[in-house]
Amino acid sequence: MITYRRATFDDVENIHKLLNAYAKEGLMLPRSRNSIYENLRDYVIAVEKGQLLGCGALHFVWNRLAEIRSLAIAPDHKAKGIGRNIVKLLEEEGIEKGAKMFFTLTYQPGFFAKCDYIETAKETMPQKVWKECVYCPQYPHCDELAFVTTTVYFDPEHMIVY
Ligand SMILES: CC(C)(COP(=O)(O)OP(=O)(O)OC[C@H]1O[C@@H](n2cnc3c(N)ncnc32)[C@H](O)[C@@H]1OP(=O)(O)O)[C@@H](O)C(=O)NCCC(=O)NCCS
Repeated sequence: MITYRRATFDDVENIHKLLNAYAKEGLMLPRSRNSIYENLRDYVIAVEKGQLLGCGALHFVWNRLAEIRSLAIAPDHKAKGIGRNIVKLLEEEGIEKGAKMFFTLTYQPGFFAKCDYIETAKETMPQKVWKECVYCPQYPHCDELAFVTTTVYFDPEHMIVY
């Protein structure tokens, strides 16, 4: 049975391995152990029989604005709904804490569309969103797409987050 739970210190090595394997393929931002430790409370993981099947993180960026990031499902466990379940759990936690808008920067538009996110122009995102881009090997030639979803109506052409 798959269990979804918060990550602990014992999970850091496995999360680090999973994220950086995909980062090497250029699919996501690499994460250092330091970054995972510092943001450990952001992470939710899926496990089965002690094995890490997937992880994802919710990072608060600004007032009511949260980023879904570091989402990765182990290659043998893709397409079982784990990714979507992790996104839902992260959103639930964000909503509980007052978040109204969620965004992600991704190369997987199809997956996030299935999670009810819509593409928006990156330029409409608050500058604070780009804080970590300097750590990305692709910087400044980023071709990630920005996807957002919200609990309130908004106009993606004129997005302002207070
Ligand atoms: C992208 C990823 C997180 C999706 O997780 P997953 O557990 O395989 O996806 P799910 O099984 O929850 O899929 C949910 C829906 O999205 C669809 N989907 C999944 N990945 C997709 C993709 N890459 N493109 C289009 N649709 C996709 C599924 O078919 C499913 O649709 P359905 O409801 O019609 O059946 C996973 O493939 C992964 O870890 N990829 C490598 C790392 C990565 O790119 N992470 C994203 C960084 S932001």
